[in-house]
Amino acid sequence: MSLKIKELKKNFPIFEHNPNLIYLDTTASSLKNNLAIEAVNHYYSHYGVNVHRGVYNLSYEATKLYEDARETIANFINARNDEIIFTRGTTASLNMIAASYLSKLKPGDEIITSELEHHSSFLPWLNVSKKTGAKLKFVKLNEYGDLTVEEFKKVLTNKTKVVALTYISNVMGRIQPIKPIIELAKQQGAFTLIDAAQASAHFKIDVEDLGCDALAFSGHKMTGPTGIGVLYLNNEVGSSIEPIEFGGEMVQTVEKDSAIYKQAPIKFEAGTPIISGAIGLGKTVEFILNIGFDKIENHIKKIYDYTIDKLRKIDGITIYNKKSDTGIITFNIDDVHPHDAATLFDKNGISIRAGEHCAQLIVKWLGQTATLRASFYIYNDYADANKFISTVIETRDFFRKF
Ligand SMILES: Cc1ncc(COP(=O)(O)O)c(C=O)c1O
Repeated sequence: MSLKIKELKKNFPIFEHNPNLIYLDTTASSLKNNLAIEAVNHYYSHYGVNVHRGVYNLSYEATKLYEDARETIANFINARNDEIIFTRGTTASLNMIAASYLSKLKPGDEIITSELEHHSSFLPWLNVSKKTGAKLKFVKLNEYGDLTVEEFKKVLTNKTKVVALTYISNVMGRIQPIKPIIELAKQQGAFTLIDAAQASAHFKIDVEDLGCDALAFSGHKMTGPTGIGVLYLNNEVGSSIEPIEFGGEMVQTVEKDSAIYKQAPIKFEAGTPIISGAIGLGKTVEFILNIGFDKIENHIKKIYDYTIDKLRKIDGITIYNKKSDTGIITFNIDDVHPHDAATLFDKNGISIRAGEHCAQLIVKWLGQTATLRASFYIYNDYADANKFISTVIETRDFFRKF
């Protein structure tokens, strides 16, 4: 059975307020589902109190909602509850791990990264490298901008301490072969950290099957709230990672000259956590699973195939990413600056991304300084695709006059 888009759109209140919105920027942030919005609202209007601390009933109930959300998310990626740390988002999760490596690495150690990385997966390690003297090594990308196991093997050595790579680039949209890469990295005893910001809204992630040490994603990319994300941290390595934030709840015993921290995940959630966000993210996972990844992917593929087929037939267009697995099209209209093009798209009611996508290394690898990017998700239909295509032609023709 395919998705009934008209019905499905009713789950996204934004369409009540913007019925003509054509939103093609889900890769940056998705539209928000009503289950999550209602859950956040419900927490604030019925509870609004802190978790883990209170001995009164309201706090018990709020704690239950918060911990239930953790369980939902743990099941979602096949992890244990104590392996799910709530953070501000992917950026915060990746930075947390990198910061804990500032005191662990030394000159001569090696960190494996790639040009595919979003800045939040690359810059924390550039910083670690500068501060510790550890060396950054880049997996050479193949002609399509993909990681390959062969190229990964060439940079992996017995000095590799960290492998920090993306599951799916937000510019190229293609699933990377991280499972065999993780397997090889672990044989060398390296810590493996996966940026799953673009993956979590598209298919079932199974951290046990992947075997990674850590993995990060954000609620707002999967129709959930902003300001909430997850750091999965494997239970066996959790104790070897130092907290980078210190404060309330994360500590067991405090003396004037020492402290004993609690176990993960609480050890990594200092201060009042993002309670409403976590509850909203839990509901978002339920929302996505209720639709089903099969239907989601089937739908995106149909709209993407339809659109890319039409786009390829238009002259004066350069498409930079080979077939995308996640409905992302990265392209330019020849001789038109992407920001100028995006302004015309906006005039036609289409939200589309223009720029360097917080991923300058891959945009440079493509030989560009900026591109356009359209991304399709469950609330997009053929009418959106047709309007997108006619706007590409309109934009090209408009600028050809000059
Ligand atoms: C591949 C990738 N990694 C990391 C991030 C950072 O996510 P956030 O801004 O939610 O922290 C993004 C966001 O665009 C992304 O696309």
